[in-house]
Parts: sequence; structure tokens; C-alpha cells
Amino acid sequence: MKQGGSEAAKRRAGESAAERVADGQVVGLGTGSTAAHAIRAIGRRVDGGLDVTGVPTSFQSRELAREAAIPLAELDEVSVDLAIDGADQVADGQLVKGGGAAHAREKIVDAAADRFLVVADPTKEADVLDHPVPVEVLPSARTTVAEAVRELGGEPVLRRAERKDGPVVTDNGNLVLDCEFGEIDRPDELATDLSALPGVVEHGLFIDLADELHVGTEDGVTVRQ
Ligand code: 5RP
Repeated sequence: MKQGGSEAAKRRAGESAAERVADGQVVGLGTGSTAAHAIRAIGRRVDGGLDVTGVPTSFQSRELAREAAIPLAELDEVSVDLAIDGADQVADGQLVKGGGAAHAREKIVDAAADRFLVVADPTKEADVLDHPVPVEVLPSARTTVAEAVRELGGEPVLRRAERKDGPVVTDNGNLVLDCEFGEIDRPDELATDLSALPGVVEHGLFIDLADELHVGTEDGVTVRQ
């Protein structure tokens, strides 16, 4: 499922977004390998005297932020100025996220931020979204949501842990259905339909949330509003 952009491209994207962080800001810290570069870069700036507070979006981003000595707060204690987060696919400013099964908390933090910066490498860009949409479900709703997803034209697959014999369990104690819909011509409508299903905690379609896209390449970064 994960696409393999180069580490150099991810690092450039993360570092470019980290440069946007200003003194005194509260920053949403995204999840995944590209956001991790941003977290490390913010940590280096904190080491140099930058005053920021981070709001992690997952267990993974919390651990990374702690290692980078970024002071942390919970979302209900602060208001977020800027969020920096990765994406599994980007098309026309709309995103599929959730490759790290963290999209529920990511969406809460990214949506709460005054500005949301997406960090990606060129393999994430597409003309039309066609990446499977991760849907976090309450464990008891796994079957009913899977049936409803089929009725919406999707093919749900329970996400399984790579090195363990069992399903992926999210930080919230739920399961993830990766739902293949082919080309998603109206991501806004699909997002509304998925949100309406009983038992869906959150899905990975991020509609009209991104403010700025930082795409790292082998030799530079492209920034688009
Ligand atoms: C985690 C996410 C990640 O941001 C997304 O999967 C991209 O990850 P990476 O930068 O490692 O490719 O949505 O839930």
C-alpha cells in the first residue's frame, strides 16, 4: 500500500514546512515518514532557541517529538496555529490519508489548525484520487460498515499488521478497513457518505483542509497554495 518516495525528497518537504513555523506557535505534528522529517527539523530549531508547543497526532509522533525535545500539549489545552502532516495521495488539493492508521486524530488536529501544510514527495501526486480510503471503524461495526462500503461501490479489506498475526489496531482501539473505490470523481460526496455510516469513527478523505503543499524532490522543493 505504501508508495516509495525517496527519503531525500521526503526530508526536503518536511524541512521546508518546518521552516514555516514561527516563534511562539502551537504546531500540529503529523504522522508518517515525511512528517517525521518535519518533526526532527522543528526539534533542531527548538534546540537553537525556537519556542514552540507541539500537538502530536499519534503515539508515533508523540515519541518522535519527545526524542526531539519539543514541548507538548493536548489539543484541548491549546489552539493550533499550524499543522504539518503527510498524505498518501494528493489530487487537486484533496487528500487521502491514514496509511499510518492515524487519520482520526490527524483530521482533528489538521482541521483545528489555522493553516495546514501538507508534506509529500512526487509519488503522492495524482490527477484524480484513486488510493484506497482508510476507514477507521469500531470493532463491533466492522461487518456492517464493510457491507455499507460495498453498497457505496467500494471493496473493503481489513488492514492486517505486517509482523503480527492479527488486525491493525489504531491508537483509539479500533480497526481499519482499506476501501478501494477506483477513481474517486467526487471525493466530497464520498466523504459525506462515509461519515454518515454508523460505526465509522473517521475516514481518510481530507476535503478542503489543506492550505499549502510542500513537495520535495531530489534537488529542491515546490510549494503550492
Ligand atoms: C498516517 C498518514 C501519513 O501522513 C501518510 O500515510 C503518509 O505517510 P508517509 O509520509 O510515511 O508516506 O496519513 O496516518
